[in-house]
Amino acid sequence: MPLQASQQKKASSIRSAAVIGSGVMGAGIAAQLANAGLRVLLLDVVPQRLTEEEERKGLSLSDALVRNRLSASAIAKMPKAQPPQLYEPAWVNRITAGNLTDHLVALGDVDWIVEAVVERLDVKQEVFAAIESARRPGTLVSTNTSGLSVASMIEGRGLEFRRHFAATHFFNPPRYMRLVEVVPTEDTDAEVVTLLTELCEKRLGKGVVVAKDTPNFIANRIGSYGMLVTLQDTITYGLTVEEADALTGPALGRPKTATFRMLDLVGLDTLLHVIDNVRKRSEDDAEQAIFARPDILEKLVAMKRLGEKSGAGFYRKIRGGDGRSTIESLRLDTLEYGEQSKVSSPVIEAAKAAKGVALKAKALINSNAGHKHAKFAWSTLKKTLLYSAAQVGVIADSITDIDRAMRWGFNWDLGPFELWDAIGLEETVTRMKKEGDTIPDWVEQWIADGHNSFYLESEQRRYFAARGGYSAEEQEEDVISLAALKGAGRTVLATSGASLIDIGDDVVCLEFHSHSNAIGGEILSAIRQSVQEVSRNWRGIVLANEGRNFCVGANLMLLLMEAQNGEWDEVEEIIRFFQDSMLRLKRLDRPVVAAPHRMTLGGGVEACLPADLIILSPETYFGLVETGVGLIPAGGGCKEGAALVAARAKSAAGGNGSARGDLQPSLNELFETIALAKSSSSGHEALRQGLLRPQDRVIMRQNTRIAEAKRAVLELDRAGYTPPVEERIRVAGSEGKAVLKLAVQAMQLGGTISEHDALIGGKLAHVLAGGDVRAGSEVSEQYLLDLECEAFLSLCGERKTQERMSHMLAKGKPLRN
Ligand code: NAI
Repeated sequence: MPLQASQQKKASSIRSAAVIGSGVMGAGIAAQLANAGLRVLLLDVVPQRLTEEEERKGLSLSDALVRNRLSASAIAKMPKAQPPQLYEPAWVNRITAGNLTDHLVALGDVDWIVEAVVERLDVKQEVFAAIESARRPGTLVSTNTSGLSVASMIEGRGLEFRRHFAATHFFNPPRYMRLVEVVPTEDTDAEVVTLLTELCEKRLGKGVVVAKDTPNFIANRIGSYGMLVTLQDTITYGLTVEEADALTGPALGRPKTATFRMLDLVGLDTLLHVIDNVRKRSEDDAEQAIFARPDILEKLVAMKRLGEKSGAGFYRKIRGGDGRSTIESLRLDTLEYGEQSKVSSPVIEAAKAAKGVALKAKALINSNAGHKHAKFAWSTLKKTLLYSAAQVGVIADSITDIDRAMRWGFNWDLGPFELWDAIGLEETVTRMKKEGDTIPDWVEQWIADGHNSFYLESEQRRYFAARGGYSAEEQEEDVISLAALKGAGRTVLATSGASLIDIGDDVVCLEFHSHSNAIGGEILSAIRQSVQEVSRNWRGIVLANEGRNFCVGANLMLLLMEAQNGEWDEVEEIIRFFQDSMLRLKRLDRPVVAAPHRMTLGGGVEACLPADLIILSPETYFGLVETGVGLIPAGGGCKEGAALVAARAKSAAGGNGSARGDLQPSLNELFETIALAKSSSSGHEALRQGLLRPQDRVIMRQNTRIAEAKRAVLELDRAGYTPPVEERIRVAGSEGKAVLKLAVQAMQLGGTISEHDALIGGKLAHVLAGGDVRAGSEVSEQYLLDLECEAFLSLCGERKTQERMSHMLAKGKPLRN
């Protein structure tokens, strides 16, 4: 029965929620709801016993402090959680603690109730009975089960409840993992599925896959199967756990935690629980055999080796006599721990040398096919592909649902069908058949019909559809795919480091695609060419990309070489080229909108600052971190920072020309941010760190960033865009510099920074304050750029700066010297 129009809700009308269960997932979900601006009531059970501390304080079991203890302590941990759960620590105020006994009636006041209590059917059933007694008709209710039967949980509940109920299966940690599986039952109203999907996608910024009510749904079903066969094959092929991890991680486009490190994180007892769930609910003998409990897992769990939470699993960390910790691995035959062996083989080397997941996976299985590493890789991969294919129509209606679930829920670069296409559908199926494997009928038929891939890549990707032929993949609303546009021939110009792509409506997007998206000559040349092209032929430009990170900074390699050889003219040329490219972008007579995501550091920030508007993703780690490599920002970062300080002082003084405000407070803040190489832990935090303007903003849905930026370009263009004119910048001068230098001295005396940090701090103070001019002087942009260049050059000549750069290039982290 469809909902009455009056009962239909919009995702935007959901303002409040209650989360039941304040454990790992309940707390994480509550935080993500708070991130989306919802008011959240977090409830747990009433404790049965007092803690020692509560006794000492003279509290009793009837005190609210005790009764709300579980959820209150979960809330208290949130602002300091690592990795952070909240975009802003202060948003913890959106969450209120309570307990399910005293605050049951409060469930009548919320719009959405999310259950996240322990994974036990009987407990969940009881909780839903209680919820039903308090909830108001029309309120959404969802369960965060990992894979219990959704329908069984609500047996005995009334129809009105059942129509508003489904699973919303978040992945851990809810803030960072993109997937939510929405699992309706037969009774769930279609409008409720749509509403929950919209809520999760649009309000919470998640990626939704609608799944069937089968054991463990999609991602955990395929994922746990993959772990089981990898474990079996590791034993069959006589491999060590570290060898198996080297072959099932990045070489297959999967996270570094690969198989065994991932298992340790998940918990070996949890995996047993997950596989029991499939086996017990399955009526198929073959499936039951696959999901039998592996001997070794039972033994390890019996020995309390549960993985990271118990300190040992397939790996364990031990502290040596010298206080250093090392990680040992488990010998699968003796169950003893020992030093990890160095893993190397022609197979692994071939995969490392190959570029991109497709070529890496091909290298793994084909380059040395007789090697045990290749045999193992092929065996585990083949089984996972065949199992996934056999599940189409069973656990999911389409291959895209399976691929999305594995990409978003397990962080695989490619889902099983995408990976299968990448290694060659027809040739691998021929090989599987030769090896006696059973191929699912639909795959055989698909190939017999003349198809050699599950997907057809084009502007709108098409995929295998059960009823024959390809179907257009449902596009997520407001998502622009640069990869698809490039595939459809929409590249306007390209260098080895960047491409300019036509994203429609006469707007282009400049996409970086160098290694780690570090900025070098190729990207700067692309920026200069793009400026010319856009000025002539387009309405505006977006700076965004689909890399793992927006940009990790400037490429230090060339810079370090020139510095080590004392080629100062060359170093200066590199800086001037960077500065000039940024100025051209700033002066472009068309709107420029930057849409960074994830790591946006150093030169990456400097590339955003010339934009008219910066639209940040919630997961943006934004910071001018040059001091970490012994340098200061010199691609215009300090100049733009100084301009922001002046603008802030002016607006604090009411924006009127005669009272232009005190520069020092903002200058101090900016100095601290850059000197301490701070980067934000979210887009929201970045807005507060002094490098952004009032017009800059954060969006909730990271994958809509390119579409949002394009929309902003069009708005600016429609409003009659004119580029910013060069303004003179009011600086704090020698007086302001003296204040900053005093702070540096105090930190050095206090032992919190090194002598080299102090040297860098002094140079940074000089540039940000505008050098030795009088306080309140107005200087040109070029003057500040010259100061940046001079300070940068002198730091490049310092041995300790060169050591910092080499360390960063070799180890990927900063050296403190
Ligand atoms: P947890 O053990 O960390 O937390 C469970 C919480 O539920 C505890 O705070 C407990 O006091 C509370 N609780 C127990 N009975 C209750 C009751 N009758 N009323 C109110 N609260 C009650 O468990 P976790 O890991 O947070 O799991 C919760 C749910 O989320 C489970 O269904 C689990 O399968 C699922 N899940 C877990 C994931 C994970 O990685 N931990 C991932 C995705 C789903």
